[in-house]
Amino acid sequence: MTVILSDLLITALNEIKDSKTLAGLDDIRVHYLGKKGKITAQLKLLGSMDPIEKPIFGQEINTTKKRVEDELQLKKAELKKSTIAKNIETSSIDVTLPGRAYLSGSIHPITATLMEIESIFLSAGFMIKDGPEIENEYYNFSALNIPENHPARAMHDTFYVGSDLLLRTHTSPVQIRSMEKEGVPIKVIAPGKVYRRDSDLTHIPMFHQVEGLVIDQGINFSHLKGILHGFINCFFEKELELRFRPSYFPFTEPSAEVDILSEDGKWLEILGCGMVHPKVLENLDLDSEIYTGYAFGMGVERLVMLKYDIKDIRVFYENDLNFISQFN
Ligand code: FA5
Ligand code: MG
Repeated sequence: MTVILSDLLITALNEIKDSKTLAGLDDIRVHYLGKKGKITAQLKLLGSMDPIEKPIFGQEINTTKKRVEDELQLKKAELKKSTIAKNIETSSIDVTLPGRAYLSGSIHPITATLMEIESIFLSAGFMIKDGPEIENEYYNFSALNIPENHPARAMHDTFYVGSDLLLRTHTSPVQIRSMEKEGVPIKVIAPGKVYRRDSDLTHIPMFHQVEGLVIDQGINFSHLKGILHGFINCFFEKELELRFRPSYFPFTEPSAEVDILSEDGKWLEILGCGMVHPKVLENLDLDSEIYTGYAFGMGVERLVMLKYDIKDIRVFYENDLNFISQFN
């Protein structure tokens, strides 16, 4: 049975006009134009129609179909637009608010200081070397003229990680490794972490040292004093008084420890140093009659404490952002 197409069209157009949602609109499309839709059903009737009526009715269905399709399209665009407008109006995002800033990291004061120390020594013609933090007894002690049972081994409060393996107690083993590799003359510094069973206001179990080693012909103690004074003045950006105290290290002779006067009038030991002991050179088959040299090992945390008047060395490793970010 054919229906009056104009009625069908009017109903369809009204339904389209009244539809409020995209889903509802799609239901209308299926209802009229889908496989079992009302307009589609009319098309199916064409086959059994009188050949005279057929073209007229066919054209009428097509026009109806086209009109419904066009209206659906228009309504769809309109609904989409208003949905976006409604979303913007009702959503809680205020696009005019400034974005959230990310906390950017900063370089740890000890790392920054190491970089600064390196650049000072680089400009004085030193090369930078490093060595393993897990060492054996030969490099950490024996090669440095600290034989087994020597009381100096006990002084170091060593962390052992095996019968012959230990966490290096100072950066001095890098002296040996560098001379083995590069021979002499040599002019190097070796910054890095060292470990000792030690903990109070001025001692921590892991700290940093910068080793220095200069071996050549004719090097003497005044060269050592010169480089240390030059470094300290450069690092603290002012002339500071240094106190050289006679001391003892098995790998240097003579030996000294150097103190700096802190703001509150206390001397704080910052480094050990001396002329490289001939035995150390001879252990490496170097001629101690021809070559002499100096070495030093300074405590990096101590330098930073003096520079910024920090009383407790442990604050460096408590990871308190308020403390660390001050050095930005
Ligand atoms: C040494 O470690 C020698 N290797 C230094 C040296 C090198 C002497 C070359 C001669 C030639 P000492 O144990 O004194 O020496 O340590 C050197 C510096 O490291 C000290 O002056 C101090 O500034 C720092 N230091 C030592 N122990 C600690 C610790 N537990 N915490 C923080 N800093 C420390
Ligand atoms: Mg000491």
